[in-house]
Amino acid sequence: MRVLVTGGAGYIGTHTCVELLNAGYEIVIVDNFSNSKPEALKRIKEITGKDFKFYSIDLLNREELEKVFLENEIESVIHFAGLKAVGESVQLPLVYYQNNITGTLILCELMQKYGVKKLVFSSSATVYGDVKSTPILENFPLSATNPYGRSKLIIEEIIRDIGVSDSEWSVAQLRYFNPIGAHPSGLIGEDPNGIPNNLMPYISQVAAGKLKELKIFGNDYPTSDGTGVRDYIHVVDLAKGHIKALEKVMLETGVDAYNLGTGRGYTVLEMVKAFEKASGKEIPYSFVERRQGDISTCFADPTKAKMKLDWAAVMGIREMCVDAWRWQSNNRDGYEVLAKVPVHT
Ligand code: NAD
Ligand code: UD1
Repeated sequence: MRVLVTGGAGYIGTHTCVELLNAGYEIVIVDNFSNSKPEALKRIKEITGKDFKFYSIDLLNREELEKVFLENEIESVIHFAGLKAVGESVQLPLVYYQNNITGTLILCELMQKYGVKKLVFSSSATVYGDVKSTPILENFPLSATNPYGRSKLIIEEIIRDIGVSDSEWSVAQLRYFNPIGAHPSGLIGEDPNGIPNNLMPYISQVAAGKLKELKIFGNDYPTSDGTGVRDYIHVVDLAKGHIKALEKVMLETGVDAYNLGTGRGYTVLEMVKAFEKASGKEIPYSFVERRQGDISTCFADPTKAKMKLDWAAVMGIREMCVDAWRWQSNNRDGYEVLAKVPVHT
């Protein structure tokens, strides 16, 4: 089975490609390296010992993308390619709408043209907007609080419309909670550009001595210790969820959305403590004002994925932190520099 993976050089894409290759799928990756590096693709080969086809293409380039469909017998698509930085999306809404929405439209038009109607799409828990209660179920009201989130919401709606227009389409819209951690090999992981916006890469870089201290955004939330609660999920568990979703869309038609989370929330302070334990490093921190747009508590009800995809996350925060630290310590500057002193934890 040949699967086209858009954005396959990125954080979640690389981990999913490893699982796909290990499960025996043939893959074709498309990426424009706008937020990733060619080295990531070498690492996928190193981990799996398997080869695959790669096209350095922007999804916005319809002619180039069409060649991928003409040159390969694509049967299904996993669509990761997109821009994902919330703050940047507020500054550059047109870039985000163009890249994420137009890119998806071009992809879906080509899929329709070549009769490829099986799709797994990277959505996000951000489509639940300012949630009123937890755990979050798939049928909760959807809304957006920034252009990034709105691009995901609009794409979900476009895909639902496609499904209504043509009952042969089969789509799983996967709403990820907070993916963290790295492959246990320490060879692939999250490689953010510049100073990280998200909690885990920030903590990792503090532990590695690249950043001085963590600023915790708010300690007056109505949570057990006053800091925000999130549903962190190991990226390898998340990647395995894509294999299950792919199996599902190969068997059944229709468009459906699934939460991919663990169903458990942890506070920022709990994550700091877990990381300190996993790394043996102290994480200095101080409390600052709440970050604009943040919510207090967000965690999934993952029952639907369990029932319909036969998938559940199995790894806990210890593994998430141990694996994140192994990646960070073996690759101080991400994919820029090759590992010199491997760290085994
Ligand atoms: P990432 O930035 O690491 O990976 C995205 C990949 O897509 C990158 O390699 C980038 O170069 C590529 N890309 C972007 N625009 C492209 C284009 N026009 N043409 C070709 N390639 C393009 O991000 P990630 O964390 O792996 O996320 C993957 C998907 O999951 C994204 O759609 C993201 O919005 C979504 N998501 C991520 C998170 C998260 O916390 N990481 C949470 C929820 C949803
Ligand atoms: C953020 C995005 C969300 C996106 C998700 C995954 C915002 C407002 N939301 O979610 O749309 O889907 O990333 O990419 O950006 N924290 C600190 N200090 C830091 C960083 C984070 O205290 O330096 C806290 C946050 O306040 C939050 C928790 O850590 O309570 C997790 O933050 P983060 O990793 O950025 O994820 P989200 O805010 O859940």
